[in-house]
Amino acid sequence: MSEKKHRVSRRQFLTYTLTGVGGFMAAGMLAPMVRMALDPALEAGADSDFVSIGLSEDELSEEPQRVDFTVELDDGWYQSEQTQSAWVFRNGDEVMALSPICTHLGCTVNWGTNEDNPEEFFCPCHFGRFERDGTNIPGTPPTRPLDVYEVEVRDGMIYLGQINQRD
Ligand code: FES
Repeated sequence: MSEKKHRVSRRQFLTYTLTGVGGFMAAGMLAPMVRMALDPALEAGADSDFVSIGLSEDELSEEPQRVDFTVELDDGWYQSEQTQSAWVFRNGDEVMALSPICTHLGCTVNWGTNEDNPEEFFCPCHFGRFERDGTNIPGTPPTRPLDVYEVEVRDGMIYLGQINQRD
């Protein structure tokens, strides 16, 4: 049985060593950068958390009431608080929460402020009108309904989640 000698030249040794050490150092530097770049995307689900609006189900009626509440925003690098609003009311058996942002050009809608149509949401900017359930009224500028919040009732208290657009 012949024994082959595998000799590594000095040049090969240096090439292997530098490639290995260089690769190890590059991975060590890139890993935190990749994690930092992807982290907010991986935690995007946090946006769908529900927050209490400090209102109980018993305090609701069929008359929409405006509620302001605070949402904590965490985009991965910064934490901040933002005040949001919703028109909340009882709609049959369900609790409904509508965004007050007009779907025409973003003004704020109010309930019952149009003397001619007191049972509607009204946008004063261009006289946009919406039914009580947020459906846009044809012939007025908005072309789609008001956005709706996801709603949960926990122990009688109302929690709102993310806002969803309707067609
Ligand atoms: S912004 Fe509301 S009708 Fe134009």
